Amino acid sequence: MASMADDLLRYRSEFPILERTNYMISNSLGAMPRTVYNALHSYADVWATRGVRAWHERWWMLPLEVGNEIGDLMNAPKDSVSLHQNVTTCQAVVASCFDFSGKRNQIVYTDMNFPSVMYFWEAQRPYGADVRMVSTDDGITVPTDRLLDAINERTLIVPVSHVLFRSSFINDARAIIEKAHRVGAHVILDTFQSLGTVPVDVQALNVDFACGGVLKWLCGGPGLAYLYVRPDVGKKLEPKLTGWFAHENSFEFATGPIRYADSPLRFMNGTTHIPSIEAARPGLKIIREVGVANIREKSKRQTARLIELADRHGWRVNSPRNAEQRGGTVSIDMPDSEQVSRELLAREILVDWRPKAGVRFSPHFYNTDAEVDAAMAAVAEILNARTIPA
Ligand SMILES: Cc1ncc(COP(=O)(O)O)c(C=O)c1O
Repeated sequence: MASMADDLLRYRSEFPILERTNYMISNSLGAMPRTVYNALHSYADVWATRGVRAWHERWWMLPLEVGNEIGDLMNAPKDSVSLHQNVTTCQAVVASCFDFSGKRNQIVYTDMNFPSVMYFWEAQRPYGADVRMVSTDDGITVPTDRLLDAINERTLIVPVSHVLFRSSFINDARAIIEKAHRVGAHVILDTFQSLGTVPVDVQALNVDFACGGVLKWLCGGPGLAYLYVRPDVGKKLEPKLTGWFAHENSFEFATGPIRYADSPLRFMNGTTHIPSIEAARPGLKIIREVGVANIREKSKRQTARLIELADRHGWRVNSPRNAEQRGGTVSIDMPDSEQVSRELLAREILVDWRPKAGVRFSPHFYNTDAEVDAAMAAVAEILNARTIPA
């Protein structure tokens, strides 16, 4: 292990919670940067002192600025990222651009997608959506060939996770997008579990839509999600889930149907969630500074160490063993894993537990190698001491 040479540890002092806990849970909620206190204080100051003038002085343009900051992290062209409250809403905005009543009405996804997104697409059946689900065989990976075979001339949209929340398997986004485009379908890539820990390049992938939230690997807190729309695709789309922020001249307060603004405002709707946007900026700044390539390199090393230790104890690993197919999380299903996760929390080792996954360990750039070892040593101790009721 290379702790001595771990240059990224200089960021540890930026994250107060690292002083008190072993924070292995960035797949769920990234640690809060200490400068979020300042960001939210200055948000309150602006509101308190500038009042309604804050809209034209700062807040109206903020989603565009922060959209571009997020866009930079995934090599998105300028002004191609709109901001929303969560990923489900992002997908709803995309869905509202399409019509499911024609022959091309299939939605093809996999049972390894995040459930909220599945619930949304399943609920589109009454509008004519023919929803097809491709199943995993091993609970860890998506059978790429079977998914590619399911995408055909009747497929309208393929909503797919880039990195799976349960196992951290990295889907073959390039192959999925190429197949979808060959048959005239669109792909929505859910980059929630990739952006900030696995490199994402929306232009190289030529993906139609990409969305995710900032609260996990981007350390940006709850309430802010982003939606990238490929500029040439976006020009033709007219979201039915729309509102006055998407109007080409909002302050005309025109009656009747909307006249759409250009991207990215075109994909927005009502009044924006300024506090969440302000709170997200410090984390985004740190991630840009650290660099996703550096984060990825360290993550591969620490996730490999987790697997090595799990193997040593004979615990079941529910994440890919090949680092190139694995995101930032290792899911480990040791005996009594749900109770183990509770015991770990009681010891200030922050992890979570998911059905069919086990305990999810997610070291980020700010974690030490010693913390990785300590988390696994604590699991062994919990199991050895039989502190868990049978
Ligand atoms: C891959 C993925 N997509 C989506 C979500 C959440 O969706 P939403 O932002 O709608 O809550 C998560 C986790 O919270 C996730 O891991």
